[in-house]
Amino acid sequence: MTLSASDYEFMQSLVCDRSAIVLEANKEYLVEARLIPVAKREGFETLADMIAALRKGAPALVTKCIEAMTTNETSFFRDSSPFEAMKSTIIPDLMKAREASRTINIWSAACSSGQEVYSLGMLLRESFPGLLTWNVQFLATDLAQGMVDRTAKGSFSQLEVNRGLPALLLVKYFNKVGPDWQIKDELRAKVTARQMNLAQEWRDVPMMDVVFLRNVLIYFSVETRRQILGRVKRVLKPDGTLFLGSAETTLNIDDSWERITINGVSCYRVRDANPAKMAA
Ligand SMILES: C[S@@+](CC[C@H](N)C(=O)[O-])C[C@H]1O[C@@H](n2cnc3c(N)ncnc32)[C@H](O)[C@@H]1O
Repeated sequence: MTLSASDYEFMQSLVCDRSAIVLEANKEYLVEARLIPVAKREGFETLADMIAALRKGAPALVTKCIEAMTTNETSFFRDSSPFEAMKSTIIPDLMKAREASRTINIWSAACSSGQEVYSLGMLLRESFPGLLTWNVQFLATDLAQGMVDRTAKGSFSQLEVNRGLPALLLVKYFNKVGPDWQIKDELRAKVTARQMNLAQEWRDVPMMDVVFLRNVLIYFSVETRRQILGRVKRVLKPDGTLFLGSAETTLNIDDSWERITINGVSCYRVRDANPAKMAA
């Protein structure tokens, strides 16, 4: 089951069209590794047969293949420092700035299976009991419907909770259901999970106080990164904060962002925005 040059080119352009993910030259092995299992599951004899079906359209199959091409690596409290910055500075500052509205909106864009958004939920619940009477909402979005469904469900395997989740938080915020761990409803109810392609038109994204857009821009072209950063600016309050992944930056892509460092971690604010206007 090896991929011909023309099938690889077709997959490169299909994946880019549907997800903005750029498959560089020489990534044939990745396409094979991700799509051969799909081809088998779907009853095709060869990967080439499945790609022939993709060429004819087959929307449900296209969706399955695009989802299979996404990389969903994540973990609880991944790269801990953004969460520490939220605890030490971002949330305390927001609690002062939003005293009047008592509303905070946080977005985990490209949420994968939900560990990031529930880490944020636990952090706020654990460290800021004063927020219990506030309206705190979390939006979690991903291209892959399978990931959105997992986030909405909030159920994690033993292996997943072993990655980054302190035992104290596990027993406090999860119930054991069969072999898995189910996030408690009090946290799950705060999360709206929905499918959204960051590279297409954004609909119904409320104004955000904090955006976690981590470990997804790396898959896109510079032009797509620039477009997405431009859209984030439109949904981020002027004193709002953007977190990117540790290998990602706005530098040399969109210089209207100012990089600020909190306890050693970089985050970003819109340069020259006027936070005074946005208090409350
Ligand atoms: C590596 S995970 C990052 C998860 C989490 N943000 C973290 O840092 O742990 C990347 C996620 O981006 C999603 N993704 C890829 N392309 C996307 C797109 N065009 N729009 C929205 N999400 C996308 C994938 O489905 C995947 O779940």
